[in-house]
Amino acid sequence: MRVLVTGGAGYIGSHVSAELIRQGDDVIVYDNLYQGHAAAVDPQAIFVQGDLADRAALRAVFETHDIDAVMHFASYTLVGESWEKPFLYLRDNVVNGLNLMETAVKYGVKRFVLSSTANLFDNPERMPIDETERIVPGSPYGESKNLLERLLLWMDRVYGMKYAALRYFNACGCVPPLGEDHAPETHLIPIILQVALGQRDHLVIFGDDYPTPDGTCIRDYIHVRDLASAHILALRALDQGSRTYNLGTGNGYSIREILDVARAVTGHPIPAIVGDRRPGDPAILIAGSDRIGRELGWEPQYSDLHHIIQSAWDWHRRHPDGYGD
Ligand code: UFG
Repeated sequence: MRVLVTGGAGYIGSHVSAELIRQGDDVIVYDNLYQGHAAAVDPQAIFVQGDLADRAALRAVFETHDIDAVMHFASYTLVGESWEKPFLYLRDNVVNGLNLMETAVKYGVKRFVLSSTANLFDNPERMPIDETERIVPGSPYGESKNLLERLLLWMDRVYGMKYAALRYFNACGCVPPLGEDHAPETHLIPIILQVALGQRDHLVIFGDDYPTPDGTCIRDYIHVRDLASAHILALRALDQGSRTYNLGTGNGYSIREILDVARAVTGHPIPAIVGDRRPGDPAILIAGSDRIGRELGWEPQYSDLHHIIQSAWDWHRRHPDGYGD
């Protein structure tokens, strides 16, 4: 298949692109390099630097390449930032996604995979969180993904474009030569590894008075390689209909548990201090991913915590300045 990957120079998009190429698909990466890195684009992919707000540039991509499917990663993705700049999320994420959907429809594309989020589930009623959980977005970011999921429903109903909405819990880990490099970095595991590299003095744990066994937040950490396989299985199943999946391991780890594993992997004491809670952080988020297991046979294979942190550490140690751009 010839797949257009928006955000293919970013963390998850680059990993999924590499796996598509490994499986023999053709990849066209469309990325404005706002958060992405040219060095993360697979040498076998065609790279077009462009913005989703630029509808003429987007049309040119579809005009030039005979696209069979779209995978849409390009997005503003920070929960905290979305409270400070809600219009960036509620307007740009949504309008850019709609531009992409409209262009895909215009060029007859019938397959669309959306990168969605566990931030749809603020204060869930059940844990683990499966796809039947009521949607309560936790931030303008989560709402922007909710709106994109809703728009895809209409693309299917009106135009028969089949979609997969994939809601990730905590993506992490690396597959060489690709890594995780955000500026600014806000994610737990890369920050912990920056402490181990001596780039930060300590980790600030955002609150230890949550209703969890050690008081710190619990999350479901899923290796990006497992996310990549889920995307590709979902893509190949689209001809049988649209679908929505929650993607995690079903296991939750606290911040202190992550720290312990990171200390063992790196051999560094990784000092940590306790600070205030970060607004908007739910105490526990664990995915119920039975549906994709049942329907597509997906099972995480690389999400053992030790392996996740080892793979991230191997990359960060070799790339202390990230992609260096
Ligand atoms: N944390 C700290 N200190 C830090 C950074 C993070 O204590 O310096 C804590 C957070 O408070 C949270 C946990 O570590 O409890 C994980 O935080 P991350 O920022 O790594 O990830 P989040 O769970 O907040 O967010 C991730 C994605 C979002 C997505 C969300 C869905 O980054 O894009 O999962 O659950 F929306």
